[in-house]
Amino acid sequence: MTTKKLTIADLHALRAHGEKVVFVTAYDYPTAAYAERAGVDLILVGDSAAMTMLGLPNTLGIGMTEMLVFARAVSRAVTRALVIGDLPFRSYQPSDECAIRNASAFIADAGCDAVKCEGGIRIVPRVRAMVDAGVAVMGHLGLTPQNLTQLGGYRVQGKSLAAADLLSEDALALQEAGVFAILIEAVPPETAAYVRERVRVPVYGIGAGPNVDGQLVISHDMLGKFVGDIAPRFVKRYAEIGAEIEGAFRQYAADVRAGRFPGPEHCYPLDPGIAIQIRGARGQLAGGRA
Ligand code: KIV
Repeated sequence: MTTKKLTIADLHALRAHGEKVVFVTAYDYPTAAYAERAGVDLILVGDSAAMTMLGLPNTLGIGMTEMLVFARAVSRAVTRALVIGDLPFRSYQPSDECAIRNASAFIADAGCDAVKCEGGIRIVPRVRAMVDAGVAVMGHLGLTPQNLTQLGGYRVQGKSLAAADLLSEDALALQEAGVFAILIEAVPPETAAYVRERVRVPVYGIGAGPNVDGQLVISHDMLGKFVGDIAPRFVKRYAEIGAEIEGAFRQYAADVRAGRFPGPEHCYPLDPGIAIQIRGARGQLAGGRA
C-alpha cells in the first residue's frame, strides 16, 4: 500500500471508476494507526467523539478544544488516508469569520486535510467562505445530529420524493458552494441513489445503503466498543472489543485479588548476593520492630 497522501482528484477518479471508498471515524492515535495500516481511505475525526469518547448524550456538548486534541492524535498516525476534522456545533454556524477560523485550526493546528460541516442550503455561505479561504470542505446531509431537536430525534430522512428532492437541492447547493464530497446519513438506498445521480462530487453514505461512492461507519460501532444504548440498524459488528476489554479487566482483577499477578516473570531480577543482603536487612528491620 502506497503512503502517498490521497487527493481530492483521487476521490473523483474513484467515483468515475465505480470504486468504493472506505471511510471510518477515529479519535485517537492507535485507532487511526490501525485504520491506516488496514488501508482505510478517509478518516473522520467526528464530533461523535462527544458520545463515543466523552460519554455525552449527543454531539452538541463538544467544542473545538476537545476536537483539536482528537484531530491532532489522528493526524499524527496517518500518512495516506485523508483526515477530515468535523466542525462541532457552534464552530461554524455563527459567522463566516468563525467558520474560517475554526476550519483553519483543524488544518493548520491539527494537521487535518479537510473539514466537514452539517447542513444544506442554509449553510452555503459558510461553506463558500471556508472554500474561498482555501479549506477543503465535505458536506453532510440527511440525518444531521447537530439539528437533533429540529429533526425530532435520530430519524430516517428522505422518505418521500419531495424529501429526496429537497436533499438533492441541498446537495446541488453544496456542490455549487465548492464542497469536494457529500456525506449523506440515514436515508433509504433509493434516496441516496437519487441524490448521488444529481451531483458530480462523490457522495458517501452512513446508513444510506450501497448506491453511493463509499461507506462510513463509526469505529466504536463496528468494533463493538460503544458504551451506550444507541444501536443503529445499519451497523455491522466486525469485532467485540468492548467485551474483550471488560473480560481482560475482570481477569486482571481476579489475578490481583488471588495473588496470581505479578508472577516471577513480571519481576525485575536482582543479583543473588544482593538479594541475600536485602533480605537480611529486611529481617533485621522486622526483628527491630518486634
Ligand atoms: O461525528 C460523526 O461521526 C459524524 C457521522 C455520524 C456522520 O458526523
